[in-house]
Amino acid sequence: MANVVEVNDLSFVYPDGSRALNGISFSIREGSRVAILGPNGAGKSTLLLHLNGLNLPQQGTVRVLERKVDRKTEKWVRTVVGMVFQDPDDQVFSATVWDDVAFGPLNMGLADDEIVSRVERALQAVGMFEHRDKPPYNLSYGQKKRVAIAGVLAMEPKVIVLDEPNAFLDPAGKKQVVRILENLHQRGITIIIATHDVDLAAEWADQVIIIKDGKIIAEGEPWLLTDKKLVEEASLRYPLVAQIFLAMPEFKINPVPLTVEQAIKAMRRFLNAQISNKAIL
Ligand SMILES: Nc1ncnc2c1ncn2[C@@H]1O[C@H](COP(=O)(O)OP(=O)(O)OP(=O)(O)O)[C@@H](O)[C@H]1O
Ligand SMILES: [Mg+2]
Repeated sequence: MANVVEVNDLSFVYPDGSRALNGISFSIREGSRVAILGPNGAGKSTLLLHLNGLNLPQQGTVRVLERKVDRKTEKWVRTVVGMVFQDPDDQVFSATVWDDVAFGPLNMGLADDEIVSRVERALQAVGMFEHRDKPPYNLSYGQKKRVAIAGVLAMEPKVIVLDEPNAFLDPAGKKQVVRILENLHQRGITIIIATHDVDLAAEWADQVIIIKDGKIIAEGEPWLLTDKKLVEEASLRYPLVAQIFLAMPEFKINPVPLTVEQAIKAMRRFLNAQISNKAIL
């Protein structure tokens, strides 16, 4: 499978002199679920803004579908990589929910019936179709967030980047976002999120990238989140499920379960082994 995103030695300094990124390199395979974690101010949002050309590299390169992101390709890259900002108020601004979601497809110059079917599908996918005639400013935060996601879906991008998709959502809202992300994954879309939610990263991601002070300090599978030194260095915590098993080494379960599903399987195996040991004795 090809790399959809390739970042090589990327650095970025804001005009006031703040160095946000300092030599970042990584690549992302098509269809992956990637979680970028790291402390406040690590550079996550700055990095995400480079993935769809809202920030252009000052040093190093960003490639999307093998094309270098620069002034010549920035418009194109915005159609391939959809970006959902942390705060939906930065993204949702039209008179009605419908108009808001139609904004991107309209700008793409699509035919009217294509726009209608895309907007309808996108609103259905996030469960906001029945609110289509409402003004977005009358919606709750979680509903606005879903409209922002629908706006990106309607552009049918190959890659979707979400900055803190879970922040400030109630538990049901969080579950719904995870369901939307899973649905997008099933459709083959590459998804990249920045998050502080280690449980979400553990449960959902295939690839975890941990950044601090504008540098990658670790990259790999979610089991990285059980590395004590790394977790401390990145101001994270262990996933909740992992905390239980790390506190009870007598279970001797390796690798440590990260998700509820993995924990249930591991406990069943453990109990079955206990039962058959007793049967032998
Ligand atoms: N517009 C800006 N002007 C100047 N400095 C900025 C700007 N935006 C971000 N920074 C600085 O760049 C660094 C990286 O910030 P960034 O917002 O990318 O971090 P983050 O990892 O997304 O943090 P958080 O977890 O708080 O969202 C920080 O030191 C921040 O102060
Ligand atoms: Mg941020």
